[in-house]
Amino acid sequence: MTIGGRKNSAVAVIPATLLCQEPCTLENIPDIEDVHVYSAILRAMGVPISHTSEGRYTIDGGAFIPDGPPPHDLVQKIRASYYLLGALLGRYGRAEVALPGGCDIGQRPIDQHLKGFRALGAECEVEGGTVRVHTSTGLKGANIYLDVVSVGATVNIMLAAALAEGTTVIENAAKEPHIVDLANFINAAGGRVMGAGTDVIRIVGAEALSGCNHAIIFDEIQAATYMIAAVATRGNVLVENVIPKHLDPISAKLQETGALVFENGDSIRVLMDERPKALNIKTLPYPGFPTDAQQPMSALLSIAEGTSYVSETIWEGRFKHFEELKRMGTDVRIEGRTAIIEGVDKLYGASVRATDLRAGAALIVAGLVAEGDTDITGIEHIDRGYEHTTENLRALGAKLRRVE
Ligand code: EPZ
Repeated sequence: MTIGGRKNSAVAVIPATLLCQEPCTLENIPDIEDVHVYSAILRAMGVPISHTSEGRYTIDGGAFIPDGPPPHDLVQKIRASYYLLGALLGRYGRAEVALPGGCDIGQRPIDQHLKGFRALGAECEVEGGTVRVHTSTGLKGANIYLDVVSVGATVNIMLAAALAEGTTVIENAAKEPHIVDLANFINAAGGRVMGAGTDVIRIVGAEALSGCNHAIIFDEIQAATYMIAAVATRGNVLVENVIPKHLDPISAKLQETGALVFENGDSIRVLMDERPKALNIKTLPYPGFPTDAQQPMSALLSIAEGTSYVSETIWEGRFKHFEELKRMGTDVRIEGRTAIIEGVDKLYGASVRATDLRAGAALIVAGLVAEGDTDITGIEHIDRGYEHTTENLRALGAKLRRVE
């Protein structure tokens, strides 16, 4: 199956178009709810935005003059709405955005974002559920050391620094492939971002950014989810339109369960014909095992042979899916930030509820291997990050249907 554009890249590049004086064309934008919400936010702000059914978006940041904050109700639907802070501060010197929403997986502080904005010369305040940032002197490049590796803070600082006067250095930066994707977008629009993908990113502020054409990268968590489902169901699945290197942690761990993984150009084939072996997972910033794959992986480990230890080092609240998996027969005990899973022979269908995006993915994987039917509610969480799920899974041989 062909993997679509990456959610976490799309929701960073879409606000980045507000830095540009002319229209940008974005390709490979996924048909997911988070993108629909972002489009609605920009439309409500008066930004000309249009798209085709093939995921080609045209956004004219040059035709937009800020007139009040983006609508709170839409901003609070997604996490990545806070990238509007960096984009609007970078372009116009001020921004007022409600605190974001997003998956309920932990505290999700924004102190490192604000630390970066302040270092660039902005005044920041968080009051009454709204973040206000502004500069009276214009942003000036600065050296910023992130106390914790943060994807969001790295993105927001890149957006604010792209048009700042002078050079900004972000140390201890996130290295996710979508950070590189955003840097490639900014550079295609005439910016100068160097070192993205390493832990030191250097941004030389540009006078102005022009329009550009940019195709975003594939979604490695979507790919990981289908690869994990292939192993759980002892199947044979080809995922296409991927960059195998980005999936190294997933491929390595699936091979550890006993699966065969064959990489070939921009595709990966995953085969499994036996019960997976238990293994240990520790989520870490890229290139470590991605926290976003922890939940679907824990569904697979529920039926593995042996005891698995899953250590979630990024999000303190990312084990909620186990309450639902236990209804299906998962045998797990939680000790602090570690889930200890005793593999069982079989899971059983049940009525379960998705509590967040990747928890929903975990329930789909569990439902595919369980004996009997599984009813999953809360599928609006799944729609936030997975496109055409029913069609894709049916094409792979799954028996499922969506009940509106
Ligand atoms: C992004 O969240 C992703 N979301 C998350 O994916 C992903 O789980 C996460 O990165 C880690 O890879 C988007 O890109 C929209 P962080 P983000 O800032 O940016 C702490 C999904 O399923 N931190 O890298 O919010 C934080 O508490 C979603 O697609 C601070 O302490 O994550 C966490 O422990 C879920 N202060 C760690 O850093 C800050 O100012 C990593 O968070 C910011 C973060």
